[in-house]
Amino acid sequence: MSLSYQSGFGNEFATEAMPGALPVGRNSPQKAPYGLYAEQVSGTAFTAPRASNRRSWLYRIRPAAMHGPFAELAHAGFHNDFGQGPVTPDQLRWSPLPMPSAPTDWLDGLFTMAGNGGCRAGTGMGVHLYAANKNMDGRYFYDADGELLIVPQQGRLRIATELGVLEVEPQEIALIPRGLRISISLPDGAARGYVCENFGAMFRLPDLGPIGSNGLANPRDFLAPVAAWEDREGDFELVAKFQGSLWRAHIGHSPLDVVAWHGNYAPCKYDLRRFNTIGSISYDHPDPSIFLVLHSPSDTEGTSNIDFVIFPPRWLVAQDTFRPPWFHRNIASEFMGLVHGAYDAKAEGFVPGGCSLHNAMTGHGPDAATFEKASNADLSKPDVITGTMAFMFESRQVIRPAAQALDAGHRQRDYQACWQGLAKHFNPEKR
Ligand SMILES: [Fe+2]
Repeated sequence: MSLSYQSGFGNEFATEAMPGALPVGRNSPQKAPYGLYAEQVSGTAFTAPRASNRRSWLYRIRPAAMHGPFAELAHAGFHNDFGQGPVTPDQLRWSPLPMPSAPTDWLDGLFTMAGNGGCRAGTGMGVHLYAANKNMDGRYFYDADGELLIVPQQGRLRIATELGVLEVEPQEIALIPRGLRISISLPDGAARGYVCENFGAMFRLPDLGPIGSNGLANPRDFLAPVAAWEDREGDFELVAKFQGSLWRAHIGHSPLDVVAWHGNYAPCKYDLRRFNTIGSISYDHPDPSIFLVLHSPSDTEGTSNIDFVIFPPRWLVAQDTFRPPWFHRNIASEFMGLVHGAYDAKAEGFVPGGCSLHNAMTGHGPDAATFEKASNADLSKPDVITGTMAFMFESRQVIRPAAQALDAGHRQRDYQACWQGLAKHFNPEKR
């Protein structure tokens, strides 16, 4: 059955799965309809300016307070330990995270790659991969440390949340607000992808400046769920991520029991194929900020805590121009992934499900094969890049690789070799 959604980014949504379940004219009546409990969930300070204030009112069978005591839950792979010691300035790259051989759900299948800042600082991000083959049946999870940006690469995810159900496939993304309880099942079986855990300000759409009032990711293409509830009782588990650690508690019912809700603190999904890509129609490849989908602002204007950027299919028409992304070094640090197809700056080695990390001021860019090809391409014709979807989690702070990522079997230890074949073309006799 196809799911219903509400359209818009950060809208004031209102939805009820039973007629009259949503109180009218007040948020907290003496008795809520159908014997439901009213509960507010706030994602920003009560006094945040109206334009950035995010909260929702939930009408539910039992309040979120009802569960047993938490005890620490061991999970070797998923954490926020980004190390305290030296960080290599090397360019780093990994092949896809191998699929698990044992039954593994989405939560157990998380593998921390890198990060910066942290839940205590309230800034920065955790970068994780997941590889899973089993539903989170009777298991519910919430992350009190950050908002989750989920980027599936293989297999759909059916994300049941307190506010309704989202289904996302590769080339779509899901945004799960901090603290919202979820349970993820896998309609296609094996699933793999990427997660950005945002410890800072919530993701928002960027300002468009001279682009105008439309373009990049358009707000109406973001889809929030409609209310849908479970009335299940049983021997279930509630897992919380709190201050970098995982905690488990017994819960005797499904916490996804919200019959109606209204507000602007809600999960959503977005199809990256709907991105309106802007590029040069004269010369030079623009800065990659032109590919910005969502950003988490920092306290410094114009400097993001996190930028989520994509490299989608597009036409390349620039004249007298090296058309792929140029060689560069940035103050920002870049964690890159590939959802689908090939990336136009790398001839081989960067495959769907893989990832790379280029930290602050570390030189990188097209590999030798791509440089030779693009330097000799026929620019009298436009070129079209099809069947691709690469992305970047970019941060103002250095993204520290986790020890398990540096030691991982899927790390490509020979990555730097892709630039060693760049020929010396310099000839002082010939301009
Ligand atoms: Fe880069």
